[in-house]
Amino acid sequence: MTVTPIATTASTMQTVASWAVSALHRSSDVVLHRILRPAYFRIEHRVDVRFDERARIETVRRAHLGELTIESGNTEFGDDEEIYVAVPVLALGAMDRVLPRELRDFVFVDLGSGKGRVLVYASTRPFRRIVGVEFAGELHEIAAANVDTGRHPRRRCADIDVVHRDAVAFDIPDEPCVFFLFNPFERYVLDQVVDNIRASHERNPRPMYVVYHNPVDAAAFDETGLFEEVWSRKRSRRSECYEVIGYRTRDAAVAADRDDAMLQVDDDLRGGR
Ligand SMILES: C[S@@+](CC[C@H](N)C(=O)[O-])C[C@H]1O[C@@H](n2cnc3c(N)ncnc32)[C@H](O)[C@@H]1O
Repeated sequence: MTVTPIATTASTMQTVASWAVSALHRSSDVVLHRILRPAYFRIEHRVDVRFDERARIETVRRAHLGELTIESGNTEFGDDEEIYVAVPVLALGAMDRVLPRELRDFVFVDLGSGKGRVLVYASTRPFRRIVGVEFAGELHEIAAANVDTGRHPRRRCADIDVVHRDAVAFDIPDEPCVFFLFNPFERYVLDQVVDNIRASHERNPRPMYVVYHNPVDAAAFDETGLFEEVWSRKRSRRSECYEVIGYRTRDAAVAADRDDAMLQVDDDLRGGR
């Protein structure tokens, strides 16, 4: 009788197991990339189109930034393909995970606002006012028309303004702010914008939040010492649009705790009635 050495049997089992694991990975990759992702992107696209129809705006069509009128030296965009593409509506729910319950003191600012999809989405929340900053002339015009004639059925903030300017030259509002970014520019531009935010906070300390989608240059915020991370989704199987980091300043944390405590007292009193 031939006796198979235990070591040989173990190594055969190891080979079979690693083959099975890699076959499983390959087939789960096929399921993910060939079936689930395309199906998800079709749903995502339908939701975006439906959002535009409901609000009577147009934000879906992409635009190549090289073909647009941009009077600025800062033409290094965050996106390698240098295209205007709006963040999917389905990804925007992340905002609610980052922001406090009480929004009425806050100005919402989309830095690189494109055609204004995020401005219209933000208008469904009770912000004090909403501002979009965009440096491409044609996109700014479309955003202006979108916020002028468009109206989301669940609108809760009607004070929406669009500014045709390079984000670096934008004057940071003096109120508490929420800054929204969908990977709009390269690090050297982002650093200048973050410097402006920091200087504004130094002059006038107040609560500030950042909602940063596809946060390839998160270090620009991490290294300020001004912001702390509130919530994040750093990996997403859907796409990088769903990767988000939310930051807030220390004074925003204190204000949110105070507001939560007051809202809790209100809830308790209402419950006790
Ligand atoms: C990825 S798109 C996002 C658009 C919008 N936030 C949305 O999700 O619907 C980035 C936008 O930033 C704009 N942008 C890039 N660099 C800019 C700058 N320095 N100042 C102002 N806008 C800029 C681009 O023209 C583009 O419209």
